[in-house]
Amino acid sequence: MSNGQLAFLGGGNMGRALIGGLLRRGTRPEHISVGESFAAARLSLAADFGIQATDNNAAAAETASVIVVAVKPQIAGEVLAPLKPLLQRTRPLVISIAAGIRTMALEGWCGAGVPVVRAMPNRPALVGAGATGLYAPASVSNAQRSIAEKVMQAVGEVVWVSEEDHLDVVTALSGSGPAYFFLLAELLTQGATDLGLEPTAARRLAIATLHGAGQLAYSGMQTGDGDLAKMRAEVTSKGGTTEAAVKSLESADLRAIVARALEAATRRGRELAEQFGAS
Ligand SMILES: NC(=O)c1ccc[n+]([C@@H]2O[C@H](COP(=O)([O-])OP(=O)(O)OC[C@H]3O[C@@H](n4cnc5c(N)ncnc54)[C@H](OP(=O)(O)O)[C@@H]3O)[C@@H](O)[C@H]2O)c1
Repeated sequence: MSNGQLAFLGGGNMGRALIGGLLRRGTRPEHISVGESFAAARLSLAADFGIQATDNNAAAAETASVIVVAVKPQIAGEVLAPLKPLLQRTRPLVISIAAGIRTMALEGWCGAGVPVVRAMPNRPALVGAGATGLYAPASVSNAQRSIAEKVMQAVGEVVWVSEEDHLDVVTALSGSGPAYFFLLAELLTQGATDLGLEPTAARRLAIATLHGAGQLAYSGMQTGDGDLAKMRAEVTSKGGTTEAAVKSLESADLRAIVARALEAATRRGRELAEQFGAS
């Protein structure tokens, strides 16, 4: 990612996370420009990363071969449409992380011939441990896909999906996923407190367990097949404590509860996309 100019439109939480990750991986600050409307955010980008930030999106995008759209979905059109003549002239690769905004809308704002890739990152990207789903229409070349992949790998794991609709499932799984694990850790904290542990001790143990289980599963995925049922079996001795808890969860139909939750999130993602995603 060290060649060519990379422009960010929006230097908020996600934009900053990506910029930090790219710099850590060797992209030079002078190769990144940012269009950002909020003055305090521009100052902190300059102070923290030594990056040129401007309130003029066209100036930020002028020489870019890759543009990352990192503004809220509601304003993606407002930000991109005025740049159409510039984009038609320069034909950069546009990577949008604006949740729910369909490629058809993005292509409409950018104009024909501008390759568009959609990315759905999640909040752990802020600490470099993100999970991103990527989708590109067939017109996007392998070389362009590989650039998009490298940009998003700056904040963690990247997985391609073959159909645009699947990004709504990615949103339900990894986009919203951190909240599910936080909820489980909250419930474990409460349960342990009810059984007599000090609340602070219970919370620390719950969070450390969340962290440790995540690390163990992730290293299992990198070194092997990431078989979660096998990893679970390794902590579940026959007749032991884990087995007692898992049996209790299964008898309460946890599988169906989780399936319904994912369906609800996917459905809601589609409803929100209908609101903002149309061109
Ligand atoms: N944060 C997450 O966990 C997460 C996860 C997955 C996907 N996403 C997606 O990533 C995108 C960005 O999210 P975020 O959390 O980074 O949002 P954010 O922190 O609000 O960042 C958006 C930034 O864009 C700036 N902006 C607003 N209007 C602009 C304009 N006309 N030109 C240039 N910059 C402008 C905003 O400035 P102002 O403050 O002045 O408005 C803000 O600094 C969203 O589409 C979101 O759906 C975020």
